[in-house]
Amino acid sequence: MSAPEPQQTSFLSRRDFVKYMMAGSALSVAALDKLNAGIYQSITELDRKYLRDLAPDGRYWDSIRDKFMFQDGLIMMNNGTVGPMPKPVFNTLIKAFKVQATHPVDVYTSLPMQEEEVRGKVAAFIGASEDEVAIVRNTTEGMNFVAHGLDMEAGDEVLMSSMEHPGGTHPWKIKEKRYGIKVTEVPIGLPPQSVDEFVGAFERAITPRTRIISVSHTVFISGLMAPLKELCTMAHEKGLLVVADGAHGIGMLDLNMHDLGVDFYATSPYKWLGAPTGAGVFYVRKEAQDKLWPTICTSGWDNPGSARKFETLSQRAVALIIALGEAVDFQNYIGKTRIEKRVKSLAGYFKQELKSIQGARLHTSEDPYLSGGLTAFSIEGVEPLDIVEYVRQKYNIVIRTVGSKQKGTYGVRVSTHMYINHMEVDMLLEGIRQVADRRT
Ligand SMILES: Cc1ncc(COP(=O)(O)O)c(C=O)c1O
Repeated sequence: MSAPEPQQTSFLSRRDFVKYMMAGSALSVAALDKLNAGIYQSITELDRKYLRDLAPDGRYWDSIRDKFMFQDGLIMMNNGTVGPMPKPVFNTLIKAFKVQATHPVDVYTSLPMQEEEVRGKVAAFIGASEDEVAIVRNTTEGMNFVAHGLDMEAGDEVLMSSMEHPGGTHPWKIKEKRYGIKVTEVPIGLPPQSVDEFVGAFERAITPRTRIISVSHTVFISGLMAPLKELCTMAHEKGLLVVADGAHGIGMLDLNMHDLGVDFYATSPYKWLGAPTGAGVFYVRKEAQDKLWPTICTSGWDNPGSARKFETLSQRAVALIIALGEAVDFQNYIGKTRIEKRVKSLAGYFKQELKSIQGARLHTSEDPYLSGGLTAFSIEGVEPLDIVEYVRQKYNIVIRTVGSKQKGTYGVRVSTHMYINHMEVDMLLEGIRQVADRRT
């Protein structure tokens, strides 16, 4: 028997949304499970029917869009900050929170066992082993674990790019102030023109006191996808460690930690993966685990040979972790390789069309190896905030400004996740054109 075709329209009205929420919280656990099974069955069925490799717009991606609950026609193109949870994740979250409301004893008995299942799913999803994955709260926490957990002496140096996020820089800056380590910024292009330009800039900056390189995998200001694998190869040849701020990595890119060769990777699954805020992933390469002390702990911190030592936090929000597992399942039903292709193909289309606007300057590389689903740009003579406000007001499209006027990086940033279609990208382009046309 074939699965029923999804009946929902792309957008939920505010009333429908409230109804959905209330229905969700009133449903039994079994009913929520059934809802999720139906959603997955419809994805599998559509996959068989419509999809070959990289599907263009149409039935398949429209149906994926229907698995989200956007309110009032919101067109969410700012996953770089926080993205949406798809329905199955929301259902699972309710289900897990319900346990505490109805049978709290399970919160400290049976639910924690599911945490291990989630660890396994996450590990397989990012090309790591289970012992290398810690479930933390967000990228910032993972970056702090590295900065505060690594033994360094006064004068030892960390290299970072000139475009790091505060969540990646400030942990090192505290350490600089407190213990006298040295933080050195390596200027990088907007965008760099090649892998060699990026890796070479770091290689030239290395000194005898350099211990670690701390860089974003996807740079939040410019959308650059750093050539992490090549950077790690170079750094390891010189005996250095590498930590990647991969805030935007999971759910946008087809990640494989072992292939990248990175020592530490911190990522926020509520941006692109569809997990709830409050659950983050911290990867610690097996060979690097002995080098890092945990800096938050209760018993279990001396657990040798496992990244679990970074999550000894006593009681914590298990419901968020279980929902993280569901977010991995959701993307697995679609396929992470396919998602990365879709995200990049939408970004490529946006970049190509943007260039036809007079004065447009891409801050993101056009090379798909050096870019992902974040695209940043500026238009000569146009205030970036005017574009952000105009498209929100006219089309309900959410994008944001990034960067700094002083540093010449100020611009607009757009996220193109899998649920966006080309028509919406065209709407955005039309909005940008209209703002640009107002120039005198
Ligand atoms: C590159 C980068 N690093 C770190 C962060 C901080 O992420 P979180 O708030 O999830 O810790 C962000 C947030 O957008 C980011 O873009």
